[in-house]
Amino acid sequence: MATIAPEQLIEQLEWRYAVKRFDPDRRIDEATWAALERCLILTPSSYGLQPWRFIVITDPDVKAQLPALSWGQKQPQDCSHMVVLAARKTMDAEYIQRYMQSVVQTRELPPDAMQGYQRVLVSTVEKIDSHLDWNARQVYIALGQLMVGAAMLGVDTCPMEGIDPAGYDRLLGLAETDYTTVVGCAVGYRHPDDAQANAAKVRFSADELITRI
Ligand SMILES: Cc1cc2nc3c(=O)[nH]c(=O)nc-3n(C[C@H](O)[C@H](O)[C@H](O)COP(=O)(O)O)c2cc1C
Repeated sequence: MATIAPEQLIEQLEWRYAVKRFDPDRRIDEATWAALERCLILTPSSYGLQPWRFIVITDPDVKAQLPALSWGQKQPQDCSHMVVLAARKTMDAEYIQRYMQSVVQTRELPPDAMQGYQRVLVSTVEKIDSHLDWNARQVYIALGQLMVGAAMLGVDTCPMEGIDPAGYDRLLGLAETDYTTVVGCAVGYRHPDDAQANAAKVRFSADELITRI
């Protein structure tokens, strides 16, 4: 298996920053974009339930409407691909059953192989207070994976909570679905004049943040 050196990982993570100004003339090529979509799909989730949808916006007319729904921020319009990460509003027995069927099919198991586990999972999930909160937490894992994956490929991102989720839901046709906007991620290439690229990273010290036991 090909791996990278620890210093290469850190170099890319130091290179990544939350882009304030994207280059509107640069587009991500198809192969790179396909890898980043795969990155989203490969995101781990609790029990493997994948309680999300990822909406990828490249249509200029739709992108032009996004700053007004994003606290005036221009990244969603100027970036190459704007990703909206949406969480499933609920988690019910029917959905869990559908997931278990896909486990059975993918791994070519006997039809009833997952039934016991499915029952336990349904009763465990029933006890969770807010399914939307739980699902939204999974969505943030996808956000992290997308940003790191992009950085490893030399692609820039800006994670974006400064958006109006209800407005995005309406614009993207999510409002009447089982899914709702949680967070956005603008993906593309930094503008050469984005001053933020030169700002030093502000992080608390390892001594404060990491406890080694
Ligand atoms: C969940 C989340 C939401 C964010 N929302 C925005 C946003 O709406 N607009 C923006 O310019 N930056 C946004 N940021 C970027 C943060 O301000 C930035 O990541 C943080 O200051 C650390 O800086 P760095 O990412 O450049 O290292 C967001 C970051 C995260 C993780």
